[in-house]
Amino acid sequence: MYEGLPGHKRGLFFVVAVCVIFMQAGLWAGRRETRDNFPDNTLVKTSSLIPFVKSDARPSIKDHPIPKLMVDAERNFRERLSRQSKTLPDAVAEYKRRYGRNPPRGFDRWWQFVKDNDVLMVDEYDAIVEDMTPFWDIDGRELRERASAAGHLPSIDLVRVRDSNATAVNIRDGPHAEVSARARGFLQMIEKFQDQLPDIDFPINAMAEGRILVPWEYRRYPNLTEASISNLLSGAFTPDWRGEGNVWEAYRRTCDPSTPARRLFSSFRASSTSQNRTSQLTARNHEFVFARYTNGNYSFCQNPWAHYNQGHFFSDWRTIPVLFPVFSPAKASGFQDIRIPSHYYYAQTRRYTYGWDPVNLELKPVDHMETPWEQKTDMVFWRGASTGGGSSPPGFAAQYQRHRFVRMASDESWTNRTIVFADPPSSTNYIATQVPIGSLNEEIMDIAFVKVVDSFNYPGGIGALIRDHRFDDGGVNLGDHWKHKYLVDIDGMGYSGRFFSFLESDSAVMKATVYREFFEGWIEPWLHYIPLSSSYQEIFNIHAFFSGATPSTLKAANSTALGLSPAKRRPLDGDRRLRRIARAGKQWKRTMGRRVDMEAYIYRLILEYARLCSDDRDSMNFTL
Ligand SMILES: *[C@@H]1O[C@H](CO)[C@@H](O)[C@H](O)[C@H]1NC(C)=O
Ligand SMILES: *[C@@H]1O[C@H](CO)[C@@H](O)[C@H](O)[C@H]1NC(C)=O
Ligand SMILES: *[C@@H]1O[C@H](CO)[C@@H](O)[C@H](O)[C@H]1NC(C)=O
Ligand SMILES: *[C@@H]1O[C@H](CO)[C@@H](O)[C@H](O)[C@H]1NC(C)=O
Ligand SMILES: *[C@@H]1O[C@H](CO)[C@@H](O)[C@H](O)[C@H]1NC(C)=O
Ligand SMILES: *[C@@H]1O[C@H](CO)[C@@H](O)[C@H](O)[C@H]1NC(C)=O
Repeated sequence: MYEGLPGHKRGLFFVVAVCVIFMQAGLWAGRRETRDNFPDNTLVKTSSLIPFVKSDARPSIKDHPIPKLMVDAERNFRERLSRQSKTLPDAVAEYKRRYGRNPPRGFDRWWQFVKDNDVLMVDEYDAIVEDMTPFWDIDGRELRERASAAGHLPSIDLVRVRDSNATAVNIRDGPHAEVSARARGFLQMIEKFQDQLPDIDFPINAMAEGRILVPWEYRRYPNLTEASISNLLSGAFTPDWRGEGNVWEAYRRTCDPSTPARRLFSSFRASSTSQNRTSQLTARNHEFVFARYTNGNYSFCQNPWAHYNQGHFFSDWRTIPVLFPVFSPAKASGFQDIRIPSHYYYAQTRRYTYGWDPVNLELKPVDHMETPWEQKTDMVFWRGASTGGGSSPPGFAAQYQRHRFVRMASDESWTNRTIVFADPPSSTNYIATQVPIGSLNEEIMDIAFVKVVDSFNYPGGIGALIRDHRFDDGGVNLGDHWKHKYLVDIDGMGYSGRFFSFLESDSAVMKATVYREFFEGWIEPWLHYIPLSSSYQEIFNIHAFFSGATPSTLKAANSTALGLSPAKRRPLDGDRRLRRIARAGKQWKRTMGRRVDMEAYIYRLILEYARLCSDDRDSMNFTL
């Protein structure tokens, strides 16, 4: 479009255009600091830094890993954003380069849609292609049959397109049965595009949990699948396990036969070794190791003992061992559900939408409970119910992700944690000291359950559950979160539906999850949010980096900073960095996490799916 310009002007034009995009995109639109206060060194192997020494000598650390993680994240994101296709021919070429085939029919209209709506990530749809890959092995007729058959399985609704009209139906429970909120949400998301679709069925998972776990052998022997389908549809398939099997047993069968998960004679017999390994996971040496990503690709096939740490392996809902095309809001590693945006993100509700005014039914740019940064506390805040798994098998709730987290933050003991902090504040002279976890929890962690769920599943019952965990009877509103700088986002029975509202707030989000969602190619950990490991052990050091040493940390270190006034003890540099993450998250939500961005994702997904459902897939290609 700028052919007439001489070379150097063209370059300048490009730079300006890119800058404008960055200002609008998921980077906060403020002035960038020209110089980082931290040297941009390569990441030092963190274990060599951890001063787990018994003496009270104070090793000093020059390079903190967090600045490097943040610099890398920003660079990755800028690079990805700037290389997005600018024209339809570019986008087609990029599609072919990535996936080795033509884009699906309708791609030109999709391109027009994303251009009309200022969608910024126009090439990053690897998640769709990855989720669709197994279905290329099934022909179109078979896929259509499986899609409509899936409507007879429990907690799966169909969104049906007939004569360009989409409706949501619950086939299993009859014409008057209620249709799930997830199916209704999906229906809304495709409304704009229904006239472009052939007659087609979308099986929508009505639950938060992933559904599809296909045994490894089924890929080798398709006849097993056929036998299994007729068995499933004969009505013998119950919604829950009823003591016959469980998610972990089903998950193990998806693993390659050579992996440790398959070699275990039984996951329960192995529980004594597993428990010992579990305590290793939460061991002290994770206190100064920072996650680069959240854990969605973690291989439980390679690390079977780790499944005890995640409630989703104990869900009561029976998984489906056949490759049905089931559309779900999130998937954990090993699952073959097809990801779609969560209806919690797409809908506008009091409980899940930032800035939603439930009285006037309108969206406000600033939530009425929002708090200025300077008035937010430096506390790490989380509230939720004691959910996060099921009871198949029973008795393992103590190790589920939420229970572990709340218990860690409820620890009032004198057990020491190693805390690394800048001394003096805002310097790059980092020292390590031992601080009792009880003091740290009191000073920085505001973490509590607000509701008892499934207490029978906790060893010792409700009494033990209440004794071991902090409970806050006050309940919580979404807006109560905004009083704090740090918000933790943790999986429940499935992915966390609060993530988008947390991002959009002026607070910074720390997220731990075992799930992968549709937006994974669009967002950047350490730029838009802080990824948290599944052990959470590094959380105290994340806080120490951004917010500085707490009084008990200064005291433990006998720091010279104790002589400073409280205001001067606070690290302005760290606080600025934290605020930058909070702002970048907000900006991301407003530029890439909009409803129309979800529609762009869905639109492209349904074009791919329509091609897969066709008898003649080649006829459903788009070529220029
Ligand atoms: C689509 O189908 C529903 C249910 O059959 C019907 O109520 C609705 O009027 C139809 N819409 C259009 C645009 O045909
Ligand atoms: C499936 O086929 C394999 C070999 O092709 C055979 O050994 C096996 O018995 C068959 N299983 C069923 C359930 O038909
Ligand atoms: C697991 O830990 C317990 C106590 O800590 C110990 O007695 C037992 O031998 C350990 N088991 C294995 C297999 O290491
Ligand atoms: C997970 O694996 C997929 C496919 O290998 C990859 O595209 C994706 O980036 C990975 N995600 C993370 C968070 O590592
Ligand atoms: C914690 O560390 C301090 C030194 O900072 C030490 O004096 C104390 O004994 C340790 N406490 C425990 C329970 O290990
Ligand atoms: C703490 O540091 C001060 C000087 O900075 C020193 O006089 C004092 O002895 C130290 N106290 C301990 C317990 O190490």
